[in-house]
Amino acid sequence: MSASPVAIYGANGHTGRLVAAELLARGQDVVLAGRDAAALAALAAEIDTPERVRTHVAPLDDQAALRELCAGAAVLIHCAGPFARTAEPVASAAVAAGCHYIDHAVEPHPVRWLFDAMREPARRAGVVIVPQLSFYGGIADLLASAVTAGLPGVDRVTVGYAVTGWRMTPAAVRTAELLIGEIDRVTFADGVQRVGPVEIRNTVFPFPPPVGPRTMIAPFPSGEVVTIPRHVPARTVESQLTSSTFEEEQIFTSQDASPAERARSEFTVAVRATSPGGGGRNGHVRGEDIWRAGVLASVEGAVRLLRGDGPPEAGVLSSAEAFPAEPFLRRLEDLGAFSLHL
Ligand SMILES: NC(=O)c1ccc[n+]([C@@H]2O[C@H](COP(=O)([O-])OP(=O)(O)OC[C@H]3O[C@@H](n4cnc5c(N)ncnc54)[C@H](OP(=O)(O)O)[C@@H]3O)[C@@H](O)[C@H]2O)c1
Repeated sequence: MSASPVAIYGANGHTGRLVAAELLARGQDVVLAGRDAAALAALAAEIDTPERVRTHVAPLDDQAALRELCAGAAVLIHCAGPFARTAEPVASAAVAAGCHYIDHAVEPHPVRWLFDAMREPARRAGVVIVPQLSFYGGIADLLASAVTAGLPGVDRVTVGYAVTGWRMTPAAVRTAELLIGEIDRVTFADGVQRVGPVEIRNTVFPFPPPVGPRTMIAPFPSGEVVTIPRHVPARTVESQLTSSTFEEEQIFTSQDASPAERARSEFTVAVRATSPGGGGRNGHVRGEDIWRAGVLASVEGAVRLLRGDGPPEAGVLSSAEAFPAEPFLRRLEDLGAFSLHL
């Protein structure tokens, strides 16, 4: 095992397994971590290079075990959700142990908490924290940066997700249920971040062909409302998701689906940025397998941090603050995450 492996918290979940496989394929040693010793041991036994893998058991309420995990790694990729419950103990341990942290959160509240509560501790510790470097969140954050680069003014950034064939995992279902039931939503409108009730409405998002105009749920609660305003001077930021995504039969009933079945999703993530005087710019990515796209993003971020290719300053950073947006997206395209259209 190398001196600086990548720790994966929630390694035995669907996302964690894909992260482990991708890191190993890229020559990176890993520590498989989580709360279930038997599940971690079973996963380790499946890996045909045992010398490159360790396991580490650390329940969320055992801060010493979490810190020990982080002390033995250069970067931790956090894959255990819902993050409303898991982000705080894992990120706190990473900062205390001086370990960089990347996560797969969707939810705006834990993303907001990381920016608010961990900014100074992370800076002092020289640690880079990148929340939601994943499918929902990071890709749109990078697209928003690439699309608005050089625009003299930005009025509104709208992120449109068109997703078909989403087969949710147990943790994704729990996350979706929390988000659907949430009264206090994070929004960013007229230059102000607010937390409170919002009216959920239907609207139409003009996706590029072959998807075309689609009815959307708006707002869709994802952390871009926190990350994009940090680096794009927009007055309003909103994410939306195709209504049809939640109408598909398999979405909430696929908790036992195989990895191959889960890979059969299709997506377009599109960003529209409008200028105050009218006009604006669009960009999008199109691909298959939302899980793999998110995993390639988090692993690419981890590999860059490991080789010293991260941001010049430590702290809590959005995906596009941590990494140059367009080159990062082009790298993900080269890795097969999606096709990029800017
Ligand atoms: N932003 C995105 O686009 C994106 C992409 C992928 C995943 N995600 C999020 O990532 C999370 C994981 O997704 P998944 O697909 O990997 O789910 P999954 O297959 O159900 O796996 C969940 C993992 O989290 C662990 N876990 C859950 N609650 C825990 C707790 N209280 N303490 C310790 N470990 C806990 C589970 O451990 P046990 O086996 O011990 O229960 C398991 O390892 C979800 O919240 C999902 O929303 C987001």
